[in-house]
Amino acid sequence: MSEAGFELSGAAFFSDPYPAYARLRAKREPVYNEATHAWMITRFADVESVLRDPRISKKIQRATATAFETSVLFRDPPDHGRIRGLLNQVFAGMPDDLDARVGRIADGLIDRMKESRKADFMRDFALPLPVAVIAEVLGIPAIDMERLHGWSAEFIIDEGVSQAESDQRQYAAICGMDEYFRGLIADGAVGGMIGAMLKADPSGDRLSQDELIGNCILLMVAGHETTVNLLGNGLYLLLQQRERLERVKADPKLLPVAIEETLRYESPVQLGTFRVTAEAVEIGGRTIGAGELITAVIGAANRDPDVFAEPDVFDLGRVSNRHLGFGFGPHRCIGAQLARSEARVGFARLFERLPNVALDTVPSSWLGGALKRIGLGKEAQPWPAHWRHTAVTRGLVELKISL
Ligand code: HEM
Repeated sequence: MSEAGFELSGAAFFSDPYPAYARLRAKREPVYNEATHAWMITRFADVESVLRDPRISKKIQRATATAFETSVLFRDPPDHGRIRGLLNQVFAGMPDDLDARVGRIADGLIDRMKESRKADFMRDFALPLPVAVIAEVLGIPAIDMERLHGWSAEFIIDEGVSQAESDQRQYAAICGMDEYFRGLIADGAVGGMIGAMLKADPSGDRLSQDELIGNCILLMVAGHETTVNLLGNGLYLLLQQRERLERVKADPKLLPVAIEETLRYESPVQLGTFRVTAEAVEIGGRTIGAGELITAVIGAANRDPDVFAEPDVFDLGRVSNRHLGFGFGPHRCIGAQLARSEARVGFARLFERLPNVALDTVPSSWLGGALKRIGLGKEAQPWPAHWRHTAVTRGLVELKISL
């Protein structure tokens, strides 16, 4: 049942995964991936149907059980509905002045960037913005964020590390966060969403202690490991072709369009989390037996020509953009509104306060610079994009900008 030659790895794949996705989609049926032991689903219609199919479960047995597996992301009905209902209640109570808070955090980061003429957007804005926002929203003291970010980063490890080491590091991070959140809750006086979860369920009837901790870990990780790449990919796409940025600056209605097109064109989450068939299921004309792993490749579905006209074009004029960047069905992203707010407010502050922001160029040699001054040298080249080597998310290692 295996098919060779469709591994989602290697330098060429990470710099441009879309030709490989197109080959997979062209097969028009699931393809088995030897490396992950999972069936890859790549056509839009199949991904959508897998994400809503009640016969395909989120409960995957792991070697070591932790509270993280009790979070909403790994549950099926009826538990999924019970936990999701409580989280929806907590998200609905998010502060009304969320945009203003995001704006204040963005301004602080821009102030710091403005102290020098160059910056690494990933290090100086795309990462610290969602980290600070999720800390504030969850009710985590700012002083603890570095530690929590260190643990979250272990959930998405770049290629080159063995599966055993990656599992071990993730397990250690979960244990660290587990202990941290139990301590925070035991100390009392926790506000934000964590406080709201405790208030929504004061007697602990709706969430067990493990479920509470598991969801804190999930919100922490999901709250920033994804948004960082929406910000990085979005800015890169706008700066790559200056005319795009100028259009967005001239017409603020285009900013949300650019954000949705980034979610489609360079989806921050490329592979949906794994699922497992609870019974035999037919997908794309092929029957997949019970107990098989399935992975929905969102990055491939979002470039499906059966659904999107000219899918490989980043199009600010795209009218209908029903992308799957935030997933679909019962497990669709619960933080989509928060992520969109961070991108909308973050970019608006950035473009207003840094009107000359551009991709930085590779420093030319002294001779190259002198030749250019007398009109004989080549134009300075922008830094080449350096994409992270992980198939789970799509994001840049660094994004050097001049201000
Ligand atoms: C650009 C940013 C984001 C992207 C691209 C993204 C993407 C996704 C996707 C694709 C799923 C579905 C996973 C699946 O079906 O297995 C998901 C679920 C989820 N996301 Fe996000 N997410 C983002 C930001 C956030 C934020 C800011 C939060 C919270 C603060 C969040 C919390 C969650 C949670 C709790 C779930 C699980 C929902 C469930 O299982 O019912 N996400 N996200």
